[in-house]
Amino acid sequence: MAETISVLIVDKSDDTRDSIKEQLKPARNFTVVGDAKGRSEGIGIAERLKPDIILLDLNGGEPEGIETIRVISQRLPWTSVVVMADIMDQGIMKRSMLAGAKEFLAKPPDGKVLLETLAEVYDEGIRRKEGLMGFVESVNIQEKEGKVIVVCSTKGGVGKTTVATNLAIDLHRLSGEPVVLLDLDLQFGDIPLFLDIVPRFTIGDAIQELKDKKSGLAEGHMCKHDSGIHVLAAPSRPEYADYVNGSHVQSILKDLQRKYSYIIVDTPPSFGETVLSAMDAASHILLITNLEITTIRGTKLALEIMQSLNYRDDKIKVLLNRATEQWGISSKESKETLGRDFWEVIPSDSRVVGSSINQGVPFVMGQPRAEVSKSIRSLSYKINNGGLESPRRLKRVFLNKAR
Ligand SMILES: Nc1ncnc2c1ncn2[C@@H]1O[C@H](COP(=O)(O)OP(=O)(O)OP(=O)(O)O)[C@@H](O)[C@H]1O
Ligand SMILES: [Mg+2]
Repeated sequence: MAETISVLIVDKSDDTRDSIKEQLKPARNFTVVGDAKGRSEGIGIAERLKPDIILLDLNGGEPEGIETIRVISQRLPWTSVVVMADIMDQGIMKRSMLAGAKEFLAKPPDGKVLLETLAEVYDEGIRRKEGLMGFVESVNIQEKEGKVIVVCSTKGGVGKTTVATNLAIDLHRLSGEPVVLLDLDLQFGDIPLFLDIVPRFTIGDAIQELKDKKSGLAEGHMCKHDSGIHVLAAPSRPEYADYVNGSHVQSILKDLQRKYSYIIVDTPPSFGETVLSAMDAASHILLITNLEITTIRGTKLALEIMQSLNYRDDKIKVLLNRATEQWGISSKESKETLGRDFWEVIPSDSRVVGSSINQGVPFVMGQPRAEVSKSIRSLSYKINNGGLESPRRLKRVFLNKAR
């Protein structure tokens, strides 16, 4: 026992305090860091000094003494209270223990017994602390550190909601992890239409709940889709959109990150304060483009904005959706203009995509074998496996090149 054990004595008798100090003096590993006559004074000193042990006199005014034990045990969980009293009957011992006392000493305490008792209490306190710290760490480990994946574009109608909804469901299926879809298209969000759901709990409610409750969003309130993903929809009325700001988005994301492994964020076709807050928190920014000249120009501009925001280059991924060269620009030309490769290419399939939206059944569920579904699977695979291509996709790329 090489450590110095700090002791605080709370006893109204000057003689008792002096006698305990005298008895502890020769024991080099004990230090009396303070003493107090009254109990409330004792609590104040204890809160400041946080001693290892408090020797507390329980003579006279027992209910008040028990309350003192309770207060110290609650406020200073690493401090052990040792109770002293002239008479130690069963009732006093039981009430003291229930309030949090760790040991008892009959007054006046005998030197040898005093030293032994304090040493035992200290050792037991260390074991309790180590056990509790281990428990706290294991609880923290169980908390998730969800990845935020923002699906965005500077142009409307390029397929953000299509990619976001299908990706959320496919990532959940592939990883088996909890996934939430967050609709930051605050004015015209249409995720409920794509998923055929009626959300009763929206971003507006979430903001209120985070304000009211310190414990965060209740999982039971989240809207659940048949696929197993959860959805936090845009406010029910477009005019509520103005109320939501960047710091609301930050706190919603922080809360969701503790509970979900992936947070897929759908966005409007602009980079306002709320979208930028989500982008700041993102591990991946999926910038959707197509081969239309105006979209390519908008995509180039978006890349420049992200560069000026100093986002890590490897978190920005450009996806080509509706890959068809019918608009007169080739995929090669657009890659040259953008100065980067497409992370994923999603084919154009109006029949599969259109009918899936009309029926409210995402194509990764209703048409898992369609090429569009396979490209979403390839995307999920890369996100879930730190950028690696899925083995199937690699085989396909190899076969295409060999042809
Ligand atoms: N790969 C695809 N093949 C064929 N049609 C597609 C494809 N992706 C999206 N679409 C069609 O494009 C239209 C717009 O899609 P979506 O709503 O997902 O775009 P958005 O970027 O979210 O639009 P907004 O900016 O208005 O929110 C839809 O009618 C959808 O059917
Ligand atoms: Mg959309």
